[in-house]
Amino acid sequence: MEVKILIFAAGILLLIQITNTFLIKPVRNLLKSRRLGCGPVPFELTRWPLGIDIVRRGLRADREQRTPDFVTARFEAMGCYTWGLSLLGTSNFITAEPRNVQALLATQFDDFIMGTARRTNLKTALGRSIFAVDGKAWHRARETMRPIFSRENVSRLELLEEHVQTMLEIIETREQGLKIDNEGRAWSAPVSLATLLPRLTMDSATELFLGQSTHSLKALLTKSQHEDGQGQHDGDSFDHAFERMLAILGIRMRLRSLYWLYGNKELNRCINTLHAFVDSAIDAADQARHQGSSQLRYDFLDSLRKRCSDRAEVREQVLGLLAAGRDTTASLTAWVFYCLVRHPYVYKKLRQTVLETFGPYSTPVEKNITFEKLKGCAYLQHIMSETLRLHSVVPFNSRCAARDTTLPVGGGPDGTMPVFVPKGTEVNFSTHVLHRRKDLWGEDANEFVPERWEKKRPGMAWQYIPFNGGPRICIGQQFALTETGYVLVRMLQRYDIIEGLDIDMERDWHNFTVVCSPGSPLARDAAVKCRLRVAVD
Ligand code: HEM
Repeated sequence: MEVKILIFAAGILLLIQITNTFLIKPVRNLLKSRRLGCGPVPFELTRWPLGIDIVRRGLRADREQRTPDFVTARFEAMGCYTWGLSLLGTSNFITAEPRNVQALLATQFDDFIMGTARRTNLKTALGRSIFAVDGKAWHRARETMRPIFSRENVSRLELLEEHVQTMLEIIETREQGLKIDNEGRAWSAPVSLATLLPRLTMDSATELFLGQSTHSLKALLTKSQHEDGQGQHDGDSFDHAFERMLAILGIRMRLRSLYWLYGNKELNRCINTLHAFVDSAIDAADQARHQGSSQLRYDFLDSLRKRCSDRAEVREQVLGLLAAGRDTTASLTAWVFYCLVRHPYVYKKLRQTVLETFGPYSTPVEKNITFEKLKGCAYLQHIMSETLRLHSVVPFNSRCAARDTTLPVGGGPDGTMPVFVPKGTEVNFSTHVLHRRKDLWGEDANEFVPERWEKKRPGMAWQYIPFNGGPRICIGQQFALTETGYVLVRMLQRYDIIEGLDIDMERDWHNFTVVCSPGSPLARDAAVKCRLRVAVD
C-alpha cells in the first residue's frame, strides 16, 4: 500500500513538473514578453532531436580547426545577428549585435552572471578565482587584483628580456643551429612559434606574480641540448600540469552540465602540482622576508596575501591569473606572426617602424623600450588591434540571465524589437562574428588591414571588444599589450625576414581550446611554423 502511495506521489510530482516546464512557464513567459513589448526571435532548425546534428557538426568543425568559421556560417544561414538555438534540452540565444553585447556586459550588468558551466566547472580548479565567481565575491576579487595591474607593475619590462633571450636561443640553436645561405645570411631551422610563446608568457607571468619563474623555456633548451632528458626542470612538470589542466577544463566546458564526467583524477593531480609550485613561491617569499632581503620581487604575492582570507585563496587567485594570462597573450602574439607571415609587406613596414623607434637589436633595452614608447608606436598598436579584430582570442563567450530580463534588439519580424530572456537562459555572444561584420567594418572586413586603425578608434560603440567591456573588462589588457609589443619589437629587431612554412591562403586554421590560437594544416598544436633570418645589425 505504502509503495503505491509513493509511486502515486512521484507521478503527481512528475506531472506538475512537466506541466510547469511545457505549459505554465512558456505561457507565463509569452505573456510577460508581450507586456515588455518584446518580439520573437528566429530559432535555428535542427534535423535530429536535441540538436544532436549541430553538436556533431560542431565536433567535426573542431577537428577540422574551423570552429569560429562554422559559427559564422550558421549566422549567415540564419540571416540575422540574434537568434535562438535549442541544444541538448536547453534553449539559448546567440548574438553579435553591439547593443545586445553592451547590455550583457555593461548597461544591464546586474541582470547577468557567468554561465553555469563556467562557474561549476572552473570552480573545481580555480575555486574563488576572479573568473569563477559573481556578485560580492567577484567585487572583492576585482579589488584584490586592481593594484597588481598598476602602471608601475605593467611597466616592469626588464623582467621580460631574460625570457625573450632564452626563446631566441632556442630558435637559433635547434637542429644544429643557424644555417648559412648562398648570400652568407644566417637562417634558423624551422620552428613553431605557437609552441614557444605560451612558455614565454608563463615564465614571465610567474616571475612577475610569484617572484620565481617556471623557467619552462630554459627547461626546453636544456632538454634539446641533452636529448636524453637529463637536466629536466621543475618548470617542465609545472608547464605540463598547466597544459593538461587547461585541456581538461576546455573539454569539460564543452560537456556543459555533464562536465563532472570527465577527467577528475587527472585534473586533481594537475592541481596538486600547480599548488605545490605556488606554495613554494609563498615559502620563498617568507624566507626572503625573514632574511631581510629585497621584497620587490614578491610585491605582487605580498599584496595578494594581504587581501586574501587564507593561503588556499592566494593559490586560487594566482592560478586564475596564470590561466587568464598565459594562453591569451601567447595566442595574440602567435596570431600577429600568423598574419605577418601572410603579409610580408606589413612585416617589412613594421620592421622599419621598429628600427626607427627603438633602434637595432644591439641597442640596450632598458630605457629604450619602455611602456610609453610601446604605447606611442602607432603602427605597432594598429597591428595588434587589427590582429585582435580579425582573430579573437576569446571568440565566444556567454552570460546567464540572473532574473527575467530583455535584450535591446533582435526580436520581431525585422529584428528591431527587444528580446525577452527568461531567468536561467544562457546568452552567447560572438566577437569573431561581430568583429567581421561587413556592415560595421566595410567590405574588407575579412582582410588583415592594420591601416584601417588610422581612422578607427578602439572601443568604438561596442563593435570592437577583444577584451570585453563594462565592469568585468579584462584587467590584464595593458599588461598583455605591453608584453606582446615588447616581444614583437625584440623579434623584429633580431630577424629581418620571416618565412611561413604552414601558410594556407584559402582558409584560416583555428586551434580552439579554452582560448583560440592559430591552428595549422601541418599540426594543430605546432602552428606558425617558420624560418627566420637573422638581421645584420
Ligand atoms: C591578448 C590578451 C588577452 C585577451 C584577449 C583577454 C581577454 C579577456 C576577456 C575577453 C575577458 C572577459 C572574460 C569574461 O568576463 O567573460 C578577460 C578577463 C580577464 N582577464 Fe584577460 N585577456 C588577455 C590577457 C590577460 C592577461 C595577460 C591577464 C593577467 C595576467 C588577464 C587577466 C584577466 C582577468 C583577471 C580577467 C577577469 C576580470 C573580471 O572578471 O573582472 N588577461 N580577459
